[in-house]
Amino acid sequence: MESSLWASLFLIISILVQLNAYGRRPEPEASGRSPQDLEMEEKSLKTETRFLLYSGEKGDSCQLQLHHLNTLDQCSFNSSLPLVIIVHGWSVDGMLEKWIWEMAAALKSQKSTQVNVIVADWITLAHRHYAIAVRNTRQVGQEIASFLEWLEEAVQFSRSNVHLIGYSLGAHVSGFAGSYINGTNKIGRITGLDAAGPLFEGTSPSERLSPDDADFVDAIHTFTQEHMGLSVGIKQPVAHYDFYPNGGTFQPGCHFLLMYKHIAQHGFHGITETVKCAHERAVHLFIDSIVHHHLQSTAYWCTDMNTFNKGLCLDCKKGRCNTLGYYIRKQRQQKSKKLFLVTQAHPPFKVYHYQFKIQFITQTEKPIKPTFTMTLIGTKQDTHNLPITLVKEITGNKTYSFLITLDLDIGKMTMINFTWKKTAMWANMWDTFHTIIPWAIRPHHSKLMIKQIRVKAGETQEKMTFCSQDMDDEQLYQNEEKTFVRCEKGLKTRKQKMR
Ligand SMILES: *[C@@H]1O[C@H](CO)[C@@H](O)[C@H](O)[C@H]1NC(C)=O
Ligand SMILES: *[C@@H]1O[C@H](CO)[C@@H](O)[C@H](O)[C@H]1NC(C)=O
Ligand SMILES: *[C@@H]1O[C@H](CO)[C@@H](O)[C@H](O)[C@H]1NC(C)=O
Ligand SMILES: *[C@@H]1O[C@H](CO)[C@@H](O)[C@H](O)[C@H]1NC(C)=O
Repeated sequence: MESSLWASLFLIISILVQLNAYGRRPEPEASGRSPQDLEMEEKSLKTETRFLLYSGEKGDSCQLQLHHLNTLDQCSFNSSLPLVIIVHGWSVDGMLEKWIWEMAAALKSQKSTQVNVIVADWITLAHRHYAIAVRNTRQVGQEIASFLEWLEEAVQFSRSNVHLIGYSLGAHVSGFAGSYINGTNKIGRITGLDAAGPLFEGTSPSERLSPDDADFVDAIHTFTQEHMGLSVGIKQPVAHYDFYPNGGTFQPGCHFLLMYKHIAQHGFHGITETVKCAHERAVHLFIDSIVHHHLQSTAYWCTDMNTFNKGLCLDCKKGRCNTLGYYIRKQRQQKSKKLFLVTQAHPPFKVYHYQFKIQFITQTEKPIKPTFTMTLIGTKQDTHNLPITLVKEITGNKTYSFLITLDLDIGKMTMINFTWKKTAMWANMWDTFHTIIPWAIRPHHSKLMIKQIRVKAGETQEKMTFCSQDMDDEQLYQNEEKTFVRCEKGLKTRKQKMR
């Protein structure tokens, strides 16, 4: 994970340098104006935030102005539709990022529901030192709240129909909008996409995005790897449902090696692309959930990724699982629920999760660490030779549980072909054994048997048990494929044999 380390170090250092610079430099800035003057200037300009109604054409938008009713008509704002407001984050280059229009287009292209899409452009306040941009998030939240209150006064409109989607600092902006809005009713939904960590981690709920800010709050954490006590994305849960794809620390496909590809593609810009990769992954997971709406990713309640990797969390009872992204099941929770899932490195990100529980029987005292491959045969398609790496060695009779993820839908699993791979180490061990006891013949009772393979499919919640097809010989031989079928079937073939 060298590359992820550098990526987060780069961002953290730039934030730290800025925090320092901000803290130590109260004297007038280059322009000759003191920060106090700047602050006054910022306050006197009423709404710094520009509300851009997306028209459906790429990058084409129409500006709505607070207290100017005519702009609603001019922009053909349809107040009977639900409203989605996209809120961007801290800006390094003072430009609106490309993903904003990708997300706007995705939201607009939905067949099932029509929505108004507004981009809350606060770039003038976001393109500042990090610490100043952080302070500005409250002002922007206030402005969004005022805008929504005005809409409710001006036209038939309800805040319960509003969905704020905020990325990085924009997630906290959305939280402030939700907490500043006057009246007893809350905004319908807030989604935090890798909400910013520095200066927010560990603060009280009123100082960051929190579940109280809307009727329903969901968050996706994608870049929470910690360096020097800081992480780019916030680690702690901030929502009703908090999603941690691939554990939330770093994301597949975001390695620095890819930087060269990015530089080739985007020129020098490629560096920031790479640095932002894992941070911005939350955004792309969300867009993907709209674009590939037939491939919804399921995430499961779990304590941490280690436990998740053992396959122990694929349960959907009592709201323990949910759908990542736009089409989440909006179920309020008393406490934040941390949900985990594995994703691919590219869209469509969805994978299929399986828990495998293999019951090994071995007579050897010595622990062994065999390597296996599995071919899963399904009603739709097969996966060939999946390598299985057991984290722990096999000793005695034990059941091993682990997670397997597939990027394709094999349908109903009907058969498992299992192979114990011959490894050099094992061959050596055998040779040594043979040297010590030269008369030993290859034992008939092999050292390894599989009693049962139990499988649970997360996505369908189906539980299956597989037994050796050949009940007369349950032993595994190296480099020999062993076929396991659904146990009921296995019993049948066995009975037929006995007749
Ligand atoms: C506004 O949206 C509603 C609901 O989809 C639709 O019935 C109506 O025709 C729209 N109005 C305009 C002016 O487009
Ligand atoms: C809420 O009401 C207070 C008092 O009337 C007002 O000062 C404030 O601006 C209002 N908040 C928003 C977000 O409009
Ligand atoms: C494992 O189970 C087998 C068969 O059920 C039994 O013969 C063997 O003694 C057991 N080994 C250990 C270490 O419990
Ligand atoms: C799995 O094993 C069965 C029985 O040995 C064999 O007929 C089948 O071709 C194998 N399937 C795959 C995909 O390897």
